[in-house]
Amino acid sequence: MNALEALIRAEIAKAGPLPLERYMALCLGHPEHGYYMAKPAIGAAGDFTTAPEVSQMFGEIVGAVLAHGWQAMGSPAPVRLVELGPGRATLMLDMLRTFKVLPALIEAVDIHLVETSPRLRAAQAYRLNEAGVSATWHDSIDTVPAGPMLLVANEFFDALPIRQRVMRGGEWRDVMVAIGPGDKLAFVDGPAVPAEDIPDGLRDAAEGTVLEDCPAASDIAGRIGARLATDPGLALIVDYGYREPAHGDSLQALRGKTFADPLDAPGEADLTAHVDFAALAKAATATGAAAFGPITQGSFLSALGIGLRAERLRASGAAAQDLTLALERLTGAGAMGTLFKVLALASPGMAPPPPYEDR
Ligand SMILES: C[S@@+](CC[C@H](N)C(=O)[O-])C[C@H]1O[C@@H](n2cnc3c(N)ncnc32)[C@H](O)[C@@H]1O
Repeated sequence: MNALEALIRAEIAKAGPLPLERYMALCLGHPEHGYYMAKPAIGAAGDFTTAPEVSQMFGEIVGAVLAHGWQAMGSPAPVRLVELGPGRATLMLDMLRTFKVLPALIEAVDIHLVETSPRLRAAQAYRLNEAGVSATWHDSIDTVPAGPMLLVANEFFDALPIRQRVMRGGEWRDVMVAIGPGDKLAFVDGPAVPAEDIPDGLRDAAEGTVLEDCPAASDIAGRIGARLATDPGLALIVDYGYREPAHGDSLQALRGKTFADPLDAPGEADLTAHVDFAALAKAATATGAAAFGPITQGSFLSALGIGLRAERLRASGAAAQDLTLALERLTGAGAMGTLFKVLALASPGMAPPPPYEDR
């Protein structure tokens, strides 16, 4: 048993079964043993690979949309360039390279990174420093200074702790983590959830139906929306998830690129859940932003010319086979192309950014 499991067992012994949300928060964010504190491993040799790590084309296209948004806002200076969960800073570096075609934008950007992992903060600082870029780090979006803003979050929201409710015997119950048979961690049914906390239409769901939500994600989307309501800005949220509210258990653990049991070796695997884009859009529009999409990552990147960009890179000497593979991974239906979605949030009154204007 690892150190985090011992702590989780002690908490269960003291306070009873843990809500899944608490278990996931400990696994990912425990200050000493949480996954993102102790061993986040992103990239080819890690537990998972993200779109910016697949190809520079992803960050270049995201950067082009944000640069267009900056011009649409009247090219304000300074402009906060905010990234939530920047990983290895690959996306940030690719976006900044794209921004170089607009020297005034490069001059105007004031970079703010929201990152809880000290290890990833160090990796980001190292890579940005090598590129001669300075940034300010934050634990949450709340301390990012006000003002015009361009924001991006790729695979950030899927890493936030979720709640699960399960329908049992005509009642919704919270999913909890307890000590089960064989002295192993196990999922158990917790207290009944008041009917008013369950969305209309789901009160009589079939036995065993699982309902997920992510209060932290809605909270952060609401804060982004409030910023966009007071200052001009554009935010792009990219993640894997669903467009309409859905139900089903989407909690998963990834370790060394293979699926693992989420209750096994807590803190040693990356735990994620599908993002409810409808909930993000609802939270952001409730605080004043306009929402566009989500559309699939495949259609987003294709409509913005990822095919042409691949041609250019090929012409300038990049390996054709690598580019074909990267294109397929980023846009293919069996890869990230349909499961991943892109939601744009903008200040009220702003025109929809490309490629949402013709959708
Ligand atoms: C799955 S990684 C994605 C990294 C990067 N965006 C990419 O696409 O490669 C999740 C990122 O979010 C950060 N993170 C996770 N939970 C966080 C939280 N509650 N607040 C701030 N950052 C968080 C992680 O440390 C990591 O940088």
